[in-house]
Formats: sequence, C-alpha cells, structure tokens
Amino acid sequence: MLAMNYRGPRRVRIDSKPYPEIKHPEDAIVRVTRSCICGSDLHLYNGNVPDTRVGSTFGHEFIGIVEEIGSDVHKLKVGDQVLVPFNIACGKCSFCQQGLYGNCHESNTEATAVGGIFGYSHTAGGFDGGQAEFVRVPYANFGPTVIPPGMDPDDAVLLTDVVPTGYQAAEMGGIQPGDTVVVFGAGPVGIMAARCSWLFGAGRVIVIDQVDYRLEFVRNYAPCEAYNFKEMDDPVVFIKKMTDWLGVDVCIDAVGAEAAGSALQTITGRKLLIQAGSATALHWAINSDKKG
Ligand SMILES: NC(=O)c1ccc[n+]([C@@H]2O[C@H](COP(=O)([O-])OP(=O)(O)OC[C@H]3O[C@@H](n4cnc5c(N)ncnc54)[C@H](O)[C@@H]3O)[C@@H](O)[C@H]2O)c1
Ligand SMILES: [Zn+2]
Ligand SMILES: [Zn+2]
Repeated sequence: MLAMNYRGPRRVRIDSKPYPEIKHPEDAIVRVTRSCICGSDLHLYNGNVPDTRVGSTFGHEFIGIVEEIGSDVHKLKVGDQVLVPFNIACGKCSFCQQGLYGNCHESNTEATAVGGIFGYSHTAGGFDGGQAEFVRVPYANFGPTVIPPGMDPDDAVLLTDVVPTGYQAAEMGGIQPGDTVVVFGAGPVGIMAARCSWLFGAGRVIVIDQVDYRLEFVRNYAPCEAYNFKEMDDPVVFIKKMTDWLGVDVCIDAVGAEAAGSALQTITGRKLLIQAGSATALHWAINSDKKG
C-alpha cells in the first residue's frame, strides 16, 4: 500500500509500505477514504516532537471503511463507514473510566500517563497513522464510531479532531452570554473555536492571525472580526483600544507550540518556531543554526 513516510525534519514522501496486520483480536483494519493534515503534524514535520522516527506515517484525522476485523470485534462489521478519534484508548483502564482517554494507561507502552495517538511519534506509542491507504485501528470496540447514514463524509472527518478541539476550547473558556472572546490563530482549530464561541453566547468574537486568506475565511465563516497582527504596532494595545480599554473576557490560544514571536523564536532567530518544551528540538535548532 502507499503511505506517507517521514524521513527526518521537513522531509516527507509517499512510499510503499506493508499492508497493516491484525495484531490483537480487538484490532480492525480501516481503508482510509479521507485524511487531514493537522497543525499538530507540522510540529512532527518540523522535527519538534521527541522520538519521531524515520519511517513513521503521520495522520490522526481520518475516516474510512472497515476492511477487516479481529476475532473479538463486535461493535463494527466489515463495510462500516467509521470515523476514528485521534486518541487510542482502551475504554476500560482507570484513566479511561474517568473520561481521560488521552491518558489511557494501556495503549502506550512508551509512557505511563500519555496514551497512544495515531501517527504521533513513539512518544505517543509509535502507531502508524491515517495518511495511508490502510491503517490498523486498535481497541476497535471502543474508539471508532459508525458514521450515520446521510452524514457528508467531509463533515464527518472534521469530527476526528478539528471541531471537537475548537468546541472544547470555547467550552473551557467558560464564555458567558455577551462576553467578548479573542481567538489567537485562524487555522482550522481557531476557526472552529471562533464559530463555536457563538454557541456559548459570545457577544463579540475577534480573531488574530498573520495570514490574510485565513483571516478572510474566518471573517465570513465564524463570522467574526479578524485582524492581522503584522499590521499592528502592539496587539495588546490594539485589543485594549477596541474594547474600551477593558480587554476581552475570554482568550483562546489556537496557535500553540510554534507561535510567531515567541521567546524561543527570538532567541534562535529562526523564522519557524521550535517548541520550547522539547530538548531534542532545541538541540536540533541550535545545531541546524550552527550549520548555517
Ligand atoms: N487536541 C489538541 O490538543 C489539539 C488538536 C488539534 C490541534 N492542536 C494544536 O492547536 C494548534 C492549532 O492547530 P491548527 O491545525 O489550527 O494549526 P495551524 O498551523 O493551521 O494554525 C495556526 C495559526 O496560528 C497563526 N499564528 C502563528 N503565530 C501566531 C501568533 N503569535 N498570534 C496569532 N496567530 C499566530 C498561524 O499563522 C496559523 O494560521 C496547533 O499548535 C496544534 O498542534 C491541538
Ligand atoms: Zn489534529
Ligand atoms: Zn484506557
């Protein structure tokens, strides 16, 4: 089968890879029909996630058709159209029972309190992801959901990460009716956070980014006010000024590890950002700078 293949920082290609095998009776094999590239994949691509091994396949946002099932899979049948959440979770351990699926104690032998994630380095279990023709899906009785008939597959694939992540950001912001919300970042997650803010009763939604086509999209789709921070002297003063000097009520960070203008970017002088929490990334940044 064909699959995306990571060869090192900023080097990926499509290669032939062995068809995945059922390794456990609760595994399923899914034929991927849609798969997205997430902002989180850029952290892997840029070499910022520890233990991203050459030969791995990214992709944690995918839907597809069940091709094969293990002998203990009873929730799915061959031919079902499923959406697969990006966390790999057993559904039974103490973390899963508390709803903390990202901490599943069973799915990641590489760590004690971080569960598995499709296509997200050996730090997250070393599972191959869905930017491939086929993918092995563990715990198939728990994670995957059958897509209801009539649902557009293009809508379903957004439920694997982008929509729930943006929605949860708005929910965790504790937006009260009438609140002014600012969302930093107009990528897919920021766009969904801005749109979902209205569901919680926001009175005003402002989005800040530096990419004009994204600002234009979110302005119409959220809909909201959207501004380019490159055109501001000081984003803090800009936001204060437009809110009668009160500031906003809720602030959502939908940029994350590779924010333009962060301290580490300033220190290394690199255009692309290196995640401050990763010693591997810092080492890589310093050494690649030395190499000029
Ligand atoms: N469940 C999760 O925890 C989860 C899920 C999905 C994505 N993420 C993370 O959320 C972040 C956003 O994801 P995405 O897919 O929308 O990524 P993306 O890369 O498509 O979008 C990020 C946007 O932020 C903008 N930006 C950069 N620096 C900025 C700054 N200083 N101020 C304002 N905007 C700035 C960029 O121009 C870009 O448009 C990523 O860090 C990703 O890893 C987390
Ligand atoms: Zn994602
Ligand atoms: Zn679990």
